Amino acid sequence: MSHVRIEGLTKRFAGKPPAIAVDDLSLEIEPGEFIVLLGPSGCGKTTTLRCLAGLETPDEGRISLGDQTVLDAHGKINLPPNKRRIGMVFQSYALWPHMTVRRNIGYPLRTRRVAREQARTRIEEAAELVDCSALLDRYPAQLSGGQQQRVALARGLAAQPDLVLFDEPLSNLDARLRDQVRAQLHELHARLGFTAVFVTHDQSEALALGDRLAIMRAGRIEQLGTPERVFEEPATEYVAGFIGMSNRLPLRRQGEGWGLADQPGTDDPSGAAGQTGTAGQPGATGQAVAHELPVPRSHSEISARLRPDDLRLCPAEEEPPDHGVGLPAEVVDAQFGGRHMDVVVTVAGNRLHARAPLTGKPWARSLSRGQRVTAWFAKDAAIYYDADGVRTATHAPAAAVGA
Ligand SMILES: Nc1ncnc2c1ncn2[C@@H]1O[C@H](COP(=O)(O)OP(=O)(O)O)[C@@H](O)[C@H]1O
Ligand SMILES: [Mg+2]
Repeated sequence: MSHVRIEGLTKRFAGKPPAIAVDDLSLEIEPGEFIVLLGPSGCGKTTTLRCLAGLETPDEGRISLGDQTVLDAHGKINLPPNKRRIGMVFQSYALWPHMTVRRNIGYPLRTRRVAREQARTRIEEAAELVDCSALLDRYPAQLSGGQQQRVALARGLAAQPDLVLFDEPLSNLDARLRDQVRAQLHELHARLGFTAVFVTHDQSEALALGDRLAIMRAGRIEQLGTPERVFEEPATEYVAGFIGMSNRLPLRRQGEGWGLADQPGTDDPSGAAGQTGTAGQPGATGQAVAHELPVPRSHSEISARLRPDDLRLCPAEEEPPDHGVGLPAEVVDAQFGGRHMDVVVTVAGNRLHARAPLTGKPWARSLSRGQRVTAWFAKDAAIYYDADGVRTATHAPAAAVGA
């Protein structure tokens, strides 16, 4: 276990145009901490890991592991991978097909020249950790995907590295196995306490595993914080979209209140949602939606971001509760999800997703395409972003958490 410090890390790739894969990235990782780098494809996650591992030559920056400087771009220090006490687990299990499980797990020990007897013990301990003791003499082709990935985990941990790097190690597993291996990894980390940097584009993996999350965008960290913090208070609209607030409503000041802003590129070709609504409300773009929102007066154009769980539906003729903002909506599709319905609606051309609970409220089960409903949300359940995508100063966070 060691303290990891990354300062001003920059990696460019030549090409037309040249790519800045990692852009002046700094991050400090506490001993034993599990850090998750979360972001879409191409944002620089793998390159950051490869720089940590010593597999790339960064253009700028310093990296230290414990009290050892492993990279100093100006001092021309860049220790090779086998001189860093780092373990790696990749998405493609990357097991050697011609080697038994035993030799695969032992591979990092051989590159580090660990003595034979000690290596034997380490291999058996590592296999035991991931329930693969019975598989030691098999070849990778004789293992299931889940078993292969557990062997890859054992290989990453066998040398008892100071730092373990994971590059989307669960992405190639089917859903059930992914949950299993994820739980096993979480438990292993709690037991062994290694320091980890785990890369994923999957928000639920990130929330489940991370002590802290770093949300990456174009080679930089857009927000760094605990899973709770990032989940409840995404600092920018980019982070909100990435952490499950998939619903976006563009709003504009209208007199003393707020109205729906024009939506270019409406995906509602019939225009039905933009015509006369129900309960006497016009459903058109520009309609008033709220008198007051918890947004400072200085903003005139904002977007509200909402999770599907926080977009509620009720029959068109019903009024939402007092604290709710009601919107005439039309159902596009409704899928049964067991205890809830996953419903797509349009609100003045904006396609929104609602997760409507069924327990105690079977009404949502009968929703069908073309049906007029009222979609509504509690003002404190939404987070409001300015035209630059930055969160507007707002109400006390406690209100948002409790809503
Ligand atoms: N070897 C390479 N040569 C040129 N460009 C690269 C190379 N590796 C990565 N890139 C570019 O760097 C950026 C970040 O890539 P990567 O770190 O793989 O992102 P991620 O792992 O988040 O998907 C991308 O624009 C990618 O095209
Ligand atoms: Mg990658």
